[in-house]
Amino acid sequence: MREGTLKEFYFELYGKQGNAEQKYQELREIIETAKQSRKKELKQNDVKGNDWYLSEKTVGMMLYLDNFSGDLAEFEKKINYIAELGITYVHFMPLLKTRDKNNDGGYAVVDYLKIHEKFGDMEQFEKIISKLHKKGIHTCIDFVLNHTAKEHEWALKAKKGEKEFQDMYMMYDTDYIPNEFEKTMPEVFPLVAPKNFTYYDEMKKWILTSFYEFQWDLNYKNPEVFNKIAEIMCKLANIGIDIFRLDAIPFMWKEIGTNCRNLPQVHMLVKMLHIILGEVAPSAIMKGEAIVEPKEIVKYFGDEENRECEVLYNASFMVLLWNSLATKDVRLMQRSLNINYQTPKNSVWVNYARCHDDIGWGLEENIIRELGMDPFLHKQFLINFYEGKYKDSFAIGELYEFDEKTMDARNSGTLASLCGLEKALKEKNQYAVELAVKRILLLHGMIIAYTGIPMIYSGDEIGTLNNWEYKQDSEKKQDSRWLHRGKFDWDKAALRKQYGTIEGYLFQNVKKMIATRKESTLFSSDTTVQCFDTWNQSVFGFKNGNGLMVLANFSEFQQAICCESVKGLTEKKELTDLLQGKTINLSENIILGPYEFLWLQ
Ligand code: GLC
Repeated sequence: MREGTLKEFYFELYGKQGNAEQKYQELREIIETAKQSRKKELKQNDVKGNDWYLSEKTVGMMLYLDNFSGDLAEFEKKINYIAELGITYVHFMPLLKTRDKNNDGGYAVVDYLKIHEKFGDMEQFEKIISKLHKKGIHTCIDFVLNHTAKEHEWALKAKKGEKEFQDMYMMYDTDYIPNEFEKTMPEVFPLVAPKNFTYYDEMKKWILTSFYEFQWDLNYKNPEVFNKIAEIMCKLANIGIDIFRLDAIPFMWKEIGTNCRNLPQVHMLVKMLHIILGEVAPSAIMKGEAIVEPKEIVKYFGDEENRECEVLYNASFMVLLWNSLATKDVRLMQRSLNINYQTPKNSVWVNYARCHDDIGWGLEENIIRELGMDPFLHKQFLINFYEGKYKDSFAIGELYEFDEKTMDARNSGTLASLCGLEKALKEKNQYAVELAVKRILLLHGMIIAYTGIPMIYSGDEIGTLNNWEYKQDSEKKQDSRWLHRGKFDWDKAALRKQYGTIEGYLFQNVKKMIATRKESTLFSSDTTVQCFDTWNQSVFGFKNGNGLMVLANFSEFQQAICCESVKGLTEKKELTDLLQGKTINLSENIILGPYEFLWLQ
């Protein structure tokens, strides 16, 4: 039955092309070969299926190898650090062979089947994956499938004029078609890489480059491209990759007259990849990176009959957390998270507070209006707040992709600096340091307790500050995302066991939250979640389907909530906070200290 579905999708996309049958047969062979060559050790694991990601024990961390350990050999020595925190899934940021120097943080791949030599080689990586498996840790890598670097073998052959390879990209002799596309195609990097097409004089061709000029978009209208990418995915699955982070998937299919994002054909491509991965590596899952409107994001879970990604980034939650911190008002978060999107069974969010990218303010404008605010002005407030422009803003960050014409921008900065730690330390303001630490823990308390898989951005667990050094690097200085992509400071990490240090306090508390989550089935990632009104606009409340209730104060002032607002949510008279151990009597009003949060059972 699965095979029929794959074939159906394939023919729906490529059936009109004369070579569809032949290409489909080639794809079948790719799948069969991959199945045959899968190692015994991995096959043993496959028998257990891929529902491991639903467990409360799954807790992720994303890291750049160069920043974290330098290379794979050193990484091996650091596995204990990750395990000490309780991490069970490591997302290695791009580590495949990229173009030299300027490569968009590794998202310009030259060879999908080689590890960048600065990190080591495939054999070493395979050993590490197997070692991680033995420790119960899953491995995730980025699969940058929308584009290759312009130095990829296919691109080089295209450059030489080989038609077969030119057809793998979107290349045009004149600017007629590019101009037609540009009419409706928004720019991804309007400031640092404006426009979507680049003209190459040496080839006399216009090429689609939605991201940077050196990232050439693949042409998925050509079945050969799909086959090649599917083959690469199978080979990577066979080295033991458990989670494929499908990079920038909304962009994979382009049509003139559309915004070239989230088109129905993209969903067919993702469904086909899902079927193929399911056949070759039944224990592996797909994580989609689709940072688009919430109603479009959820579509990447697929439907009951045909799944797409098992997990997706919960970009809305991330943005709403930062919105709530700046405004001390959780109403937008509460109402936005309660919008009920239909998703197939076992769809799981990855909840994160920071990642390697900017914070883009994709908020529900209708709800902002309902709350009596102006969406434009509200966004302006957030942008300026996290740049640290206001005197009473605790954050220090930078703008990303600021557009002078529209005043639009996104924000960059590390979690700790955006939470106020950098400013407080600079001003030698001990009370502000304490508040910043509370904010950092509050955000972790939310992503670790909320329904889904928590994902920690390496370094946040020890309060890493902004990396201003990037401004000295000519290749990085134009892209403020490097502000939060600094080196992991092992000297600071060494303080994690030292009482009285910020690093120690943060690390031990995050560790405790992770351990608490892992010990209790209250936190399984696939349970339902409902946010409720606490009748206090600074206090966020949610309850999950397993009976966990969370209350969180998003302001620096003490807040009280009336017991009536939670009474109807449980039959119990008292609830216990799983982290502090204290008992909350539900016949009295509940008092929360500055940024205090409770995980109640
Ligand atoms: C994803 C990555 C981002 C990169 C882009 C292009 O969005 O997260 O860092 O710039 O893809 O590959």
